[in-house]
Amino acid sequence: MALLSAATVVVVGLAACRPVPPGSTLRGLADARDGRVVGTSVEPAQFDRTADADLIAAQFSSVTPENAMKWVSVHPGPSTWDFAAADRIVEFAEAHGQRVRGHTLVWHRQNPAWLTGGTFTRDELIAVLHDHIATLVGRYRGRIAQWDVVNEAIADDGTLRDNLWLRGIGPDYIRLAFEFAHEADPDAALFINDYLIERGGAKAATLLWIVASLRSAGVPIDGVGYQTHALVPALMPTPEQFADEMRRFASRGLLVEITEMDVALHLPSDPAIDPQRQADAYGSSVMACLAVRECTGITVWNYSDAESWIPGEFPGFGEASIFDAALAPKPAFERMRQILWWDLRAR
Ligand code: XIL
Repeated sequence: MALLSAATVVVVGLAACRPVPPGSTLRGLADARDGRVVGTSVEPAQFDRTADADLIAAQFSSVTPENAMKWVSVHPGPSTWDFAAADRIVEFAEAHGQRVRGHTLVWHRQNPAWLTGGTFTRDELIAVLHDHIATLVGRYRGRIAQWDVVNEAIADDGTLRDNLWLRGIGPDYIRLAFEFAHEADPDAALFINDYLIERGGAKAATLLWIVASLRSAGVPIDGVGYQTHALVPALMPTPEQFADEMRRFASRGLLVEITEMDVALHLPSDPAIDPQRQADAYGSSVMACLAVRECTGITVWNYSDAESWIPGEFPGFGEASIFDAALAPKPAFERMRQILWWDLRAR
């Protein structure tokens, strides 16, 4: 026994000391970890800047449209569609061997005025939802690996969030959305996606109840997406907390993914402390994902501080990404690479 643990310590020590091969990418390192993917949210304008496009293609094996597939972008009028931005993203991904996560079919935000201000009977609203999902998911059938079917359905107190779908259809809008998505693309993995579910609590309890109910009713739901937005590094759960939480869902046969990770800093940041704390927080999530077999990928929300949604949404916070505004890698990027590189099972 003593010998075995001494040997284990030596192996772990050696693995941890092996430097990350220079130039190795997040996508390459993650692929060697049972085919996991590392993704980023994208906007098509980023592809027009060579440095950004090159970085997205080199480092990431998955992309999520940041806004291009949301209702307000893609379905601006009742029978008006605009697929230009979404098409560009799917084409970019295909040209660079990247997976696409579709985002998102049902959400309480970024909906067009014709939908939020319209008057619909229950049956009419169900027909609107069906038409939207059939058209959008159907357009990319076979080309989008995962869809965030329902996004942020749970309020912070653990109740079902008040949104136009709950008001107009009732709680079974969730079931209907999954059924419509499955009908439109039977091969896509269908996710329910939310924030503040990374360390249990009221929202996670409701989520588990929703997912268990849907699965026992035979509804086609495949996975849970953990957005993993941390407004400051201290809000990130420990790897153990996060992995335990993911396992509660994985043990019910669900896939889990980290879908929108970022770690904001309170500005002005302290260069002596904050970059390392931020790296710790990013690293914790990567460790959690690697510890759970069913965790198939990690997506960051905005690859660079120049692109980040945080300053616009949370004044006083920012610098949330793994590359700085000049696209230089930050300690968080290096930490992600190191953790993906250490394979403690390697001999
Ligand atoms: C954000 C985008 O990053 C912003 O550009 C937009 O103005 C608002 O939405 N949770 C989600 C994402 O599921 O769609 C949100 O994206 C961030 C929070």
